[in-house]
Amino acid sequence: MDSDYLDNIFEKAVIGNSLIKNRKTLTIDYVPEKLPFRDEESKTIAQVLSVVLKDGRPSNLLVFGKPGTGKTAVVKNVINRLKRKSKEHGIGITVTIVNAKTANTSYKVLYDIAEEMGTNKIDKKLKVHFTGLSMGEATDRILEYVKKNQLQVILVIDEIDSLVDRNGDDILYSFTRANERLTESGFISLIGISNSLTFKDKLDPRVRSSLSEEELVFNPYTVLQLKEILNERAQLAFNEGSISQAAINLCAAVAGKENGDARKAIDLLRVAAEIAERERATIVIEKHIREAQEKIEKDTNYEVIKNSTTHTKLVVLSILKSQTGMTGEVYDNYISLCKMMDQDALTQRRITQIVSELDQLGLITSNVVSHGRYGRSQIIKIAVSSNTIMNALKDDPFMSTLL
Ligand SMILES: Nc1ncnc2c1ncn2[C@@H]1O[C@H](COP(=O)(O)OP(=O)(O)OP(=O)(O)O)[C@@H](O)[C@H]1O
Ligand SMILES: [Mg+2]
Repeated sequence: MDSDYLDNIFEKAVIGNSLIKNRKTLTIDYVPEKLPFRDEESKTIAQVLSVVLKDGRPSNLLVFGKPGTGKTAVVKNVINRLKRKSKEHGIGITVTIVNAKTANTSYKVLYDIAEEMGTNKIDKKLKVHFTGLSMGEATDRILEYVKKNQLQVILVIDEIDSLVDRNGDDILYSFTRANERLTESGFISLIGISNSLTFKDKLDPRVRSSLSEEELVFNPYTVLQLKEILNERAQLAFNEGSISQAAINLCAAVAGKENGDARKAIDLLRVAAEIAERERATIVIEKHIREAQEKIEKDTNYEVIKNSTTHTKLVVLSILKSQTGMTGEVYDNYISLCKMMDQDALTQRRITQIVSELDQLGLITSNVVSHGRYGRSQIIKIAVSSNTIMNALKDDPFMSTLL
């Protein structure tokens, strides 16, 4: 094989007249300095936290809002400013930020807190080991460390709902209760961030009232707001003239329809830019946004199917194999697949549930069709390409024998 063309690709990447001048600004982790349309929210958080600079304990704060509404970005931004200010004035505060979702287990959340807070490095006796302690012991050590060193801690737990989903509210109970005991000798102010609006219902009333001393809701962005956010981001990310205004508008419109999610809007922009680059286009236009949208949808559907349970996969396959899409036929298909796989079949009621979950995810459509005096029946159809389904099922060694 002539490898010159490979060199060519790399060479172009190095010198090439790229569309993008700063790729980093399109990544998930990038937090811009300016967050338009979030002044009020930023102010509220800053006001709550500013108490710490006056030697007081800030109220606990619960931040809610749908995905991609800027909760994490805004909190991090305000915290960074607070850190800078406290340093300037020589005020010692300890800021600890953990993410309960990426931590995977509740114990890991405690471990992360101890690592971030410095317990593990500084105090061998109170070290929260990677494994081996009970949750209670780990919590006690963290609290003891705060007390012993009289720390003023601001503890941010992002995606706090996954902590409660996994382990109930024991940990939060200990942390919120601890304050009642600590005050004189240091404290922990908790900032919980959640995109589940029903999160509070899962808490014990005492934890709930203590955790939400203050509450703040982030509303979804409107299409116009998304447009401006995208315009600003595009200025940072793209070389001048490398993206059309129409493309940005379309991007905002698409993301606006999907819950006003700024993350989706920026993702769309990044994927569109990648598609345009691969085509060696000189400018990102609407067509690239549409292609990006298709690609993202396809990837999401693939991931959802790939990560679903065996029985959900069997139901998907049963629908795909069905000629008429009638529920009876789908269920019969499902029973025979279960037999082939030596699996106990779930009840019809459970299958109906799975079908409605698939419907909600947009993976299938289900319509009620009237047959005149013969009554009505439900017709189920797959709503995504059968290629996507096949690829997702093929990756499961258990399912692949059925294909
Ligand atoms: N007002 C804004 N201006 C500029 N960029 C923003 C704004 N709001 C959000 N973003 C960007 O959108 C993306 C998502 O924001 P963020 O992660 O803060 O959302 P979130 O509310 O925490 O969502 P989730 O609930 O899914 O965690 C980030 O890349 C962030 O930089
Ligand atoms: Mg977040």
